Amino acid sequence: AHLLAYNRSLMEMTFAIIKPDAVRARHTGRIIERIEEAGFTIRAMQLRHLTVKEAEGFYAVHKERPFFASLTTFMSTGPCILMALESEDAIKKWRGLMGATDPAKADAGTLRKEFGASIENNATHGSDAPDTAAFELGYFFPGIQFAR
Ligand code: CMP
Repeated sequence: AHLLAYNRSLMEMTFAIIKPDAVRARHTGRIIERIEEAGFTIRAMQLRHLTVKEAEGFYAVHKERPFFASLTTFMSTGPCILMALESEDAIKKWRGLMGATDPAKADAGTLRKEFGASIENNATHGSDAPDTAAFELGYFFPGIQFAR
């Protein structure tokens, strides 16, 4: 009972997106297969075509960046897959599976290397820290349960 409680305490949730480029290219199934093979539990999932306003709210932290308008327009070009992923050390682990933001710089075997075409059309998104994970999970999955 002690060990079970201890393992539970290491569980973490992160927020993931399969972006419109990857959904359009029919890579959804292969990406989800990689997520499950890596040991994540999918706690929530939704196919959703974001409005520009929803994308702007989601990426508000980047609003001063030169790529903000292009990024938020791209994110609303078609449906994406929104997911809450759980595992031990989920935030770091999901970032490792995705690889570097720029697919050209991503390691072999990562999702962005395999499915991404450019820094904007980079197939997937993941939260970069616990505070952004909490914001992003709450933005699209309000009321989601973090521990159970
Ligand atoms: P993501 O992890 O979704 O977070 C912000 C996104 O902005 C990033 O992935 C990229 O797809 C996108 N982006 C576009 N241009 C740039 C850039 N020059 N530097 C960083 N991110 C960029």
